[in-house]
Amino acid sequence: NTIHVLNGPNLNLLGTREPGIYGAATLADVEALCRAEAAQHGFELVFKQTNSEGALVDFIQAARGAKGIVLNAAAYTHTSVAIRDAVAAVGVPTIEVHLSNVFAREPFRHHSYLSPVARGVICGFGPHGYALGIQALVRLP
Ligand code: DQA
Repeated sequence: NTIHVLNGPNLNLLGTREPGIYGAATLADVEALCRAEAAQHGFELVFKQTNSEGALVDFIQAARGAKGIVLNAAAYTHTSVAIRDAVAAVGVPTIEVHLSNVFAREPFRHHSYLSPVARGVICGFGPHGYALGIQALVRLP
């Protein structure tokens, strides 16, 4: 069984991008953490990143039949009906994850198009939030 960890725009820049907000870990570090967490629970891991909204829709569709999705849609969280519809369409349990505590930031980050179709939401714990998301998925029936 497989868990898909899908990352949206600008997350390829982790480590150098606003480190005061997002920390020093790179996306490769996040991937390593996710691989270790999935392996510990006996799950295969697919890990992807894209800066493009349509590609993120394709990645979500490609996760059909998986155990679950850990999704950091980054800025598209706050803008994208297409990504929300993709999550609803595939019917795969999806955990919405954000590195930063979006509710402690600008008001435009307080609304998520994804939360209503997500199984749960984790934010504010940095890369560890991805591990928490994987842990939540593996415990689902
Ligand atoms: C983010 C929060 C979003 O508001 C922002 O646009 C991002 C990253 C996070 O992981 O904290 O790009 O999803």
